[in-house]
Amino acid sequence: MLSKSQARLFFVSGTALFSLLFLFLTVDTVRQVPAQTKGRNITPAVERGKKLWDENNCMGCHTLLGEGAYYAPELTKVYPRRGAVWIDIFLKDPQAMFPGERKMVQYNFTARQRQDLIAFFKWISEMDLNGFPPKPNLAKGSSDKPAPSGQPQTGVARRAPAPPLTRKQPQPSRRATSPSSRSATRQLANAPNQAKNKAPAKPPTIFRQLCIACHSLHGQGGKVGPALDHVGRKYTPVYLQKWLTDPQAVKPGTQMPKLPLSKDNLTKLVEYLSQLK
Ligand code: HEC
Ligand code: HEC
Repeated sequence: MLSKSQARLFFVSGTALFSLLFLFLTVDTVRQVPAQTKGRNITPAVERGKKLWDENNCMGCHTLLGEGAYYAPELTKVYPRRGAVWIDIFLKDPQAMFPGERKMVQYNFTARQRQDLIAFFKWISEMDLNGFPPKPNLAKGSSDKPAPSGQPQTGVARRAPAPPLTRKQPQPSRRATSPSSRSATRQLANAPNQAKNKAPAKPPTIFRQLCIACHSLHGQGGKVGPALDHVGRKYTPVYLQKWLTDPQAVKPGTQMPKLPLSKDNLTKLVEYLSQLK
């Protein structure tokens, strides 16, 4: 049995010890916050984007850093997942990207407001979050397996996550390479361009920015539209040009949106798609 004074000592020293420990841990955490949140990257655009985020109650449907409502996709990593070009087009007209699906609000943001939101998403995505959000632990062998590095798409089960948009699509000739033929492939890769007529060209940047969200190539990408692996066999360049310019004009009621493509990008895309045979 402790005497009264011993009990008091025990209480006071225990409380003091754990208060100090708690204080130390708090200070230590707070000290790490600026580095983890990369506070120095907060530009005026990021601040304006945050304000738009708050004013429009995006959290009424979305989560950010895990906080908010679970109706719509988690957006912490939307910047690396989708890329600036995609987000800009999506915010301009959400219905065009996913016609007939659940509705994201049409906010009629100005171009600058959209850029501010994108800056905000970029800043959020670059925070050090100790691994949040976790990658989904999907069972092996599932037929609907998304790309291994895909991010979870909360509540959007039908669509496979798009692979990171910055990743280069592997070239099929390399992918299928067995160890024995590897040196041959390397020679091919080192050969001048005109000798490579068997290896398909690298997809244009715009393809990785926009099309992969809905279409797959070599088994990677979205499943909203058909896979594009052999689309060059199916359609002529003239048809592809018409299709990409205005899908509705070619096939009224189609789910493929009319995307704002520059002339240069249109030409590159038609050229690229035509040689996917
Ligand atoms: C009424 C609910 C609602 C509100 C409010 C809302 N969204 Fe959404 N948002 C959605 C839904 C639903 C989707 C998924 C659309 C789909 O997949 O068809 C979505 C998708 C998105 C996406 C694309 C995510 C992805 O990876 O595909 C972005 C970016 C986005 N919203 C940004 C915003 C911003 C910014 C705001 C606030 C200005 C906002 N949303 C407010 C419902 C909402
Ligand atoms: C929002 C989703 C979405 C995006 C983004 C998208 N597509 Fe599509 N695409 C579709 C859908 C859905 C179809 C099927 C349309 C149909 O048959 O009515 C389609 C069809 C196609 C077809 C015809 C394929 C076939 O086998 O018949 C081509 C080619 C195509 N898309 C190219 C592209 C290119 C190139 C881009 C990027 C600039 C792109 N798509 C972006 C949804 C999308």
